[in-house]
Amino acid sequence: MAVPVRTKTRRRQQLEQAMLYPLDWVEERSGLVGGIKYFLFRKVPGDISWGHTLGSASLTAFLVQAITGAILAMYYKPDPATAYESIERITNDLTLGWLVRGMHRWGASVFIILMFFHMARVFLYGAYKYPRELNWIIGALILILGMFEGFTGYLLPWDQTAYWATIVGVNLQGTGPFVGPFLINVLNGGAEIGVDTLSRFYAIHMLLLPGAIFALIGLHLWLVIRNGVSSPPWSPDAAGSGEPQGDGRRPSRQGLVRGRRGGSE
Ligand code: HEM
Repeated sequence: MAVPVRTKTRRRQQLEQAMLYPLDWVEERSGLVGGIKYFLFRKVPGDISWGHTLGSASLTAFLVQAITGAILAMYYKPDPATAYESIERITNDLTLGWLVRGMHRWGASVFIILMFFHMARVFLYGAYKYPRELNWIIGALILILGMFEGFTGYLLPWDQTAYWATIVGVNLQGTGPFVGPFLINVLNGGAEIGVDTLSRFYAIHMLLLPGAIFALIGLHLWLVIRNGVSSPPWSPDAAGSGEPQGDGRRPSRQGLVRGRRGGSE
């Protein structure tokens, strides 16, 4: 018996076209849709595991920090006379303020812990080896900036714990050879912790560091796409996705390759 072939009605075709029009418009002018499609549907080795999700988990934690931080910045006042008060107001008076603040405060630790787990996975799988050394270096920079983000954020509530912990932290930097005293000056905005320190820490915490981390994450992800994700060391298909994947979008690195490529050399 012949199977009836279902054809799309003209109306349905028109509807689909209308819905896809904005995407086509953007694609034609930027290639952005194709790029995102390539990122989401690119091939990865078949034997990767849950360990490989830790990078994306770190990214999610960073985005949560960025979003909750932006909300907090709408109510926080970086002035020694009102900073603590504004934090109290966020926690006790604003709708769900306690939740947003709690997510940001605890999320900072989650972000750092996830980065360490991700780094441990990369290290244990040897995924930092050729050709991914540069991505390891970029990752290490992100980790350092991430921890500095935690340090600068700690002062912002401007309570006793924040104040004294920051004095200890800043003085620790001061013990560094040659640059120590200079670092103290830069961080404090003067010889001692004072009025300028809070606004300085605030600017570093919500402009300088997030901007730098954002840019480095972009670079990090671009290199993940360019080099491909590596297979686990025990994989029979040692280099994972080292070879160009045949769809023409991936830059070929013929000539760059020295022997086996990937994390399991
Ligand atoms: C905000 C922090 C970070 C984000 C968002 C991030 C994101 C990612 C993602 C999504 C991947 C691909 C999937 C995976 O292997 O998990 C990846 C791979 C990689 N990451 Fe990170 N990462 C971060 C921090 C770090 C750190 C701290 C290091 C090491 C110092 C590092 C080194 C690497 C390397 C070498 C790869 C390639 C691994 C492979 O191909 O198997 N990353 N990262």
